[in-house]
Amino acid sequence: MATINENYLNLQGSYLFQTVARKVREFEAGNPDARLIKLGIGDVTQPIAPAILNAMHKAVDEMGAANTFHGYAPDLGYEFLRTAIVENEYRKRGIDIEPDEIFVSDGAKSDCSNIQEIFDQNNLVAVCDPVYPVYVDSNVMAGRSGAFNEEKKLYSNLIYMPCTESNGFIPDFPKINPDLIYLCFPNNPTGVAITKERLQAWVDYALKIGAVILYDAAYEAYISDDTLPHSIFECSGAEYCAIEFRSFSKNAGFTGLRLGFTVISKKLKLSGKSVHAMWARRHGTKYNGAPYIIQRAGEAVYSPEGNQQINAQIATYMKNAQFLKTALKDAGYTVYGGENAPYIWLKTPNGLSSWDFFDLLLNKAGIVGTPGSGFGPNGEGFFRLTAFGTYENSVEAIERIKGL
Ligand code: MLT
Repeated sequence: MATINENYLNLQGSYLFQTVARKVREFEAGNPDARLIKLGIGDVTQPIAPAILNAMHKAVDEMGAANTFHGYAPDLGYEFLRTAIVENEYRKRGIDIEPDEIFVSDGAKSDCSNIQEIFDQNNLVAVCDPVYPVYVDSNVMAGRSGAFNEEKKLYSNLIYMPCTESNGFIPDFPKINPDLIYLCFPNNPTGVAITKERLQAWVDYALKIGAVILYDAAYEAYISDDTLPHSIFECSGAEYCAIEFRSFSKNAGFTGLRLGFTVISKKLKLSGKSVHAMWARRHGTKYNGAPYIIQRAGEAVYSPEGNQQINAQIATYMKNAQFLKTALKDAGYTVYGGENAPYIWLKTPNGLSSWDFFDLLLNKAGIVGTPGSGFGPNGEGFFRLTAFGTYENSVEAIERIKGL
């Protein structure tokens, strides 16, 4: 008789963004004329840049001719893309990563949730609180979380590292030594970035206790402060203790196209076994490679025109971030993030809970954001707005908030 994976029964409600989407659908059904401003899920709004589009058109034509047609992609990614990634993302920053240490995939979300498969079931997992829910949910599905404690709103076997106003939203080392540590900087949801010194301290800590850092750098393109690290591999020793996840979604608008990559140095070994080899085995077995057309699009991100065009898009989003942050502060809100990340993390007014503020904004101002408590108990009393809307909508959102 077939039985289910009972770990799934431990999952709390639905995935955060599904809950938000359901509430929005219900509101729209009851208010068909409302013009909602959606600053909830971190989804981009600007179209694919022309240089990237041209590369895709060319690749589409290639697929239609026998002599240029491409079947299955190499499961670890085409050499042209892995080389472009290494040159532009790593060697330019003085980081020594080889093309065969890059694993091209359909995005950072899949990789940062699938990666836990290659680690022991009993590994202790540390996550920030608040946190991108995918890290938690994927470990719940794998049976690593233990039961959910309703009162504390925490899973009993996960180690939560509070990220609060008092520590500047940068976690302190946990009291119990974890085996796997998820870090995301610039951070989703708080929008806060980490200094190289603090990140180096995390690398040193991981090396000391034998942990692996699972480093999500999906938002690195939004770093405006030149002193901040774009990659964990800027820290010395990280190649022995860290795995990095990167994405083309937020920097180049690929949320709909899907493309990302994971970096694992061949030097990362656990009990003498190569983690790189294990992930290569996993990737090759369960994944048939990102589409050729999309990998050509990824390559075009690094062309001079592509680079210039995506930088202009990022600047537009960061103009929104700056506007939202300043205007909310002027309106009396306490606001974080938004300087090196496309997320604004604000304190809800008058002690409202995150979901109450969500409902208020949706019902009275027609604005969709994301309740901080959906990212973890320490997100309670906070609210996330994205800078991925249009400038006009960001301006109107502030007008509506002021009018509340
Ligand atoms: C978010 O809103 O947190 C992100 O868009 C989610 C994601 O990248 O999967």
